[in-house]
Amino acid sequence: MTDRKATLSVGDKSIELPVYSGTVGPDVIDVRGLVQEGVFTYDPGFVSTAACESAITYIDGANGVLLHRGYPIDQLAEQSDFLEVCYLLLNGELPNEDENKAFHETIKNHTMLHDQMRNFFNGFRRDAHPMAIMCGVVGALSAFYHDQMDVSDPKQREITGHRLIAKMPTIAAWCYKYSMGQPFMYPRNDLSYAENFLHMMFGTPCEDYKPNPVLANAMDKIFILHADHEQNASTSTVRLAGSTGANPYACIASGIAALWGPAHGGANEAVLDMLAEIGDVSNIDTFIAKAKDKDDPFRLMGFGHRVYKNFDPRAKVMSETAHQVLKELGLENDPLLKIAQRLEQIALEDEYFVQRQLYPNVDFYSGIILKAIGIPTSMFTVIFAMSRTIGWFSHWNEMVSGNNRIGRPRQLYTGSPKRDYPKK
Ligand code: SDX
Repeated sequence: MTDRKATLSVGDKSIELPVYSGTVGPDVIDVRGLVQEGVFTYDPGFVSTAACESAITYIDGANGVLLHRGYPIDQLAEQSDFLEVCYLLLNGELPNEDENKAFHETIKNHTMLHDQMRNFFNGFRRDAHPMAIMCGVVGALSAFYHDQMDVSDPKQREITGHRLIAKMPTIAAWCYKYSMGQPFMYPRNDLSYAENFLHMMFGTPCEDYKPNPVLANAMDKIFILHADHEQNASTSTVRLAGSTGANPYACIASGIAALWGPAHGGANEAVLDMLAEIGDVSNIDTFIAKAKDKDDPFRLMGFGHRVYKNFDPRAKVMSETAHQVLKELGLENDPLLKIAQRLEQIALEDEYFVQRQLYPNVDFYSGIILKAIGIPTSMFTVIFAMSRTIGWFSHWNEMVSGNNRIGRPRQLYTGSPKRDYPKK
């Protein structure tokens, strides 16, 4: 924090406000004192508002930079694995060899669900959207861990984080199995985190399932690329829920609900639906015109970002991974990939998109990878939620272990002035 000041003139008043600098990134003006001056700031969508201080993730949207505890996302995706990234996001530093081994072992020992949780799945219709099931089941976890939910106790927060990291793949895979009418597969301790997820998704009791290492590597990259992203809509939801003192499972369930929207985590599912609707490269121009038409609600899903006004660094890694997976599966001529590549090429040359700095985001290629692996589009956001759980929990943990105040935004009131109830 520094002692620099910003001066705001409101009417005949001149208000001095403190200015703080972070490690990197824009300075912030502390406007908390404005309420005493009888004015609020106004920023629907929080375009220019820093809602908190955080040391977890830094994004430089103009230059396509994404750092997790200072490490660039492309280096983590190439050289780390998802559980090591989980340790980094939670603890602030990369683990040494012993810490990394112990963390992997700890997570392995929490992958099973309480057997009574199976009953929650049975309450849903078989054709329920898996995000609806995941929302309900994760919120219900709080009914099983009463003895470990004192949010003021760092050890209880740590065990809760380990449980969530470990159990989300089991819950996600069981959402899929339930929708398929297939038996749930229990986690296996001899497999890596990503191999275990593929085993629980595609294995059956009828035969031994051997995860394809190229596909397991691709899944681990997808988990890393979706792990955290600063104060996005779902993470801000988790922080706001957590600011009331709500238990961590309920807070993560609120993040899952927020992520479901097509403008946020639901975009990867919407990208595949859009590519299928386009159907052929010859139709791309029609859809580009629709995306530019103000009277048409159609948007190019997987394009644009509130923060990135350059390439989303995750999209580059995702695009390379898509080519590896499709090559491994002999799907290099996948028609959807052809449409996606042509769409990207046209959009990046079109003045409308260039002027608005609309580039492919993390969701543009992830769906192509997941579909090639055999995962249905309804499961795409479930996988995003499974990965983002470590980001949500790390932000929740950072907030509750600091000097937390309940979040309570104000408003610009444009309703009716005071009026009396009409006498009868
Ligand atoms: C994620 O916040 C995060 O970090 C999110 C995320 C994470 O990891 O948590 O990165 C994950 O949510 C990625 C984004 C996934 N969503 C989509 O792909 C859906 C399509 N994209 C858009 O809905 C939109 O780009 C947003 C929601 C992502 C960003 O919206 P903004 O910042 O509010 O931008 P805007 O709506 O103000 O758009 C600015 C202009 C508008 O045109 P004008 O009014 O200036 O004429 O760009 C246009 C918009 O109409 N525009 C698009 C467009 N996105 C913006 N036009 C066509 N297609 C698009 N995709």
